[in-house]
Amino acid sequence: MDEASVLWLTGLSGAGKSTIARHLRACLVGRGAAVAVLDGDEIRRGLSQGLGFSDVDRRENIRRIAEMARLLSTQGIVVIVAAIAPLSRHRGLARNIIGAPYREVYVKASLSDCERRDVKGLYARARRGEVVKFTGVTDTYEPPLNPDLLVDTSTHGVHVAVSSLMALLERCQAKQTVRQLA
Ligand code: ADX
Repeated sequence: MDEASVLWLTGLSGAGKSTIARHLRACLVGRGAAVAVLDGDEIRRGLSQGLGFSDVDRRENIRRIAEMARLLSTQGIVVIVAAIAPLSRHRGLARNIIGAPYREVYVKASLSDCERRDVKGLYARARRGEVVKFTGVTDTYEPPLNPDLLVDTSTHGVHVAVSSLMALLERCQAKQTVRQLA
């Protein structure tokens, strides 16, 4: 069976990764595709329960997500990952584990926008010093230098992001078909 694409949505907390993942899943399911969403918040409640936000723990969290994504992808399931993966080496690890189906999508939003949205109240808590090593505030986020796609949620809504992601998936599929025909 052909490997399906793995779209790794990276970006700050509150940038819109989970929202985009949910909308994209609905769109793909509507077209009859098999899709799985691996969301950092959800994974941390189960598969990565007990892991924190030190570099070692984040790396382990990302490794587990990437291994799961690879297993699903090899079974023809399109995988949408919504996880911060803050450092370039974290994303490099995911890329190494997943291989060719890996696509990096930078869900970009300014820190001030994420902080203004503060859906989970975590930025306010981080500013008060109640959350340690909070990405973008007291811990580093390295923006991807060469992502396969950049979606800017400070300037565009979720539907623009979904359309761009659908186009990216179509390009991946076209490439795969060309490879099969060659
Ligand atoms: S990752 O860095 O290991 O990729 P992941 O995406 O799984 O992170 O989890 C991020 C989510 O955990 C955030 O969206 C937020 O809800 C929550 N969170 C709790 N503490 C932190 C923290 N210190 N830094 C970032 N996110 C945190």
